[in-house]
Amino acid sequence: MTLEEKTKKLLRDAKTVAVVCNQWGDTGKGKLVDFFADWADIIARGTGGANAGHTIMIKGKKYVVHLVPSGITYDSQSKINILGEGVAFDPITMQQELEILDQERLSFDNLMISRNAKLVLPQHIALDRLENTPDGQTKIGSTGRGIGPVYEDHVGRRGLIVNDMLNPRVFEEKLEFNLQHSLALLRSKNPGAVKKVLEQEALLNGRFYDTKDILNKKEITSLYLKLGQFFRKWISDTEDFLANSVGKKRILLEGAQGFLLSYEHGSHPFVTSSDCSIQGLVKGVGLSEKDVERVFGIAKAFYMTRVGEGPFPTEFGGAESSEWCRTHTRQNERERFPNPNINSKDELEQGVAARVIGEEYGATTGRPRRTGWLDLPLLKLAAKTNGPEIILTKVDVLDDCWKIKICVGYQYIGPHYQQGNETLLTGTVLKTADTDPNVLSRCTPIYQEFPGWQSDISGIRNYSKLPKDLQNIIRFIELETDTQVKIVSVGPERDQTIIKV
Ligand code: IMP
Repeated sequence: MTLEEKTKKLLRDAKTVAVVCNQWGDTGKGKLVDFFADWADIIARGTGGANAGHTIMIKGKKYVVHLVPSGITYDSQSKINILGEGVAFDPITMQQELEILDQERLSFDNLMISRNAKLVLPQHIALDRLENTPDGQTKIGSTGRGIGPVYEDHVGRRGLIVNDMLNPRVFEEKLEFNLQHSLALLRSKNPGAVKKVLEQEALLNGRFYDTKDILNKKEITSLYLKLGQFFRKWISDTEDFLANSVGKKRILLEGAQGFLLSYEHGSHPFVTSSDCSIQGLVKGVGLSEKDVERVFGIAKAFYMTRVGEGPFPTEFGGAESSEWCRTHTRQNERERFPNPNINSKDELEQGVAARVIGEEYGATTGRPRRTGWLDLPLLKLAAKTNGPEIILTKVDVLDDCWKIKICVGYQYIGPHYQQGNETLLTGTVLKTADTDPNVLSRCTPIYQEFPGWQSDISGIRNYSKLPKDLQNIIRFIELETDTQVKIVSVGPERDQTIIKV
C-alpha cells in the first residue's frame, strides 16, 4: 500500500479531522498538518496567534512564520485556509508574512479571516513584554506577542475584533474605551521601560509612542483602518462558512501550542491564554466536538520539550537545565558541549544532546528548549480530553540511545498539601498527573527503563519493520495511557511517516 492509500484507509470516511498537540507545543504539528493538508479541502486554525512559530520552506529557502496557517504554502490555489474567531489576529505581523509569500509569488487568495477574530493592538504587545521583564510581575517567559493581554481584553469586554478595522467610528469608540484600561496599566509601569518597549522593532520602532500620552491614538487608528482595507477581501463569517462545509468538504483543524499550555488544563500561571485542547480548537473555529470525526493528539517520543517557565518533572538535569536554557543560546551551549553525548551520565549533557539531535531551538529566538523524558501521566491526562488516537513524532531522535526511560508515575516530595478534601503527604506515590504547579513541581518521576533499539529508523516505512525493542515501548505506552498510536514519524520529510493501519 502507498502512503496515500494508507492515509485514506486511516481516515476512512472522515470529513473533519483535527490535529492537536498533547504536550507543551513544538511536537512537529507543522509536518503533520502539511501531511494531512494533501487530503483536506479546508485547513482552519482556531486558537493562539503569532506566539506559534513554524518554519516553512519556499523554493528551498527557510522562512519563520507565526500567524499564517501551516497549510498556506500547500497548494494554496485549491485549498482554503482559515483563521477562525478564536485566533489572536495581529494584522501587522500577518501583513509582513503575506508580503513574504507575495515576494515568492505564492497565492493566498483562498485565505479567510474571521470577522470575529480578536484584534491584537500595540498596547497588548507592550503590556505582554513589560509584564515579562525581570522587574515585571508574572515572569512566565511569554513570547511577547500580546497573547495574554488580547484575550484578557476579550473576556474583560473591552477588546476589539477584526471587523472593527472596517468601521472607523466603531474602531475609534472601542479603542478609546480599551485605552482607558490599557493606559492605566501602562502608567503604572516604569516610564523608561515603557518607552524602551514601545521603541522595539515589534512595535514598529516607536511609531505608536507618544511622549505625553504614551500611545499615539491617531497613529494606531490610521494604521489599523488602513490594514482593515488591506485585509477586507479576506474577512468574512468563517464560522458560518465552516458550519456549512461540515460533512460536505474535507476539513482539517490545526491546533496551536499544546494541551499542557492550555489555560484550561495546564499548570497556571505557566500557560498560554487560549485553550489549546480540542475543545478550544473547535470552539475557536465555530464548530462543536460532535462535528469532528477524528482527533489526533501528537506526542513527541520518547522525550519531551518545554519552552519558558513552569514545572517539568522529567527534565534532563532538572533545575540546572531550566537555568541553563534560560541563560544560554544555541551558540554558547555548543561552546561548552561541542559533541554532546546522548548516553552521557551527566543529565544536563544528555539533554543538550537531545536538543541538538532533535533541533530543539525556538524557531524565532533560537532559545534552547528544555528537554526531558516522556511523561506518561501527563500524556494520559491530555488524551483524556483530546482522545485516544496518538501520533508519535521525532522517534528517530533517540536512535543512538542505549537506555530509554519512561515516566510512569511520581513520588510527591513536599509539604502537606490540601487537594480538595484530601491531604497530599510527602512520599506519596502518584499514578496520575495533577497540573497544579504546587504539586507538579514537587513530583519526582518514577521511571520504567527499556533497552534502546540502537539503529537508524529514519528509512523505515512499515510499522512491522521497526525494531522490536521500539515496538515494545510503543505497545507499553498504549497500554499505560489507554491510547492507540496511529502514526509514527521518523524524520522531517513527508514520506518519513509510518501509518499503523
Ligand atoms: P504566550 O503564549 O506568548 O503568552 O506564552 C505563554 C507560555 O506559552 C510561555 O511559556 C511560552 O513559551 C509558551 N508558548 C507559547 N507559544 C508556544 C509555542 O508555539 N510553542 C511552545 N511554547 C509556547
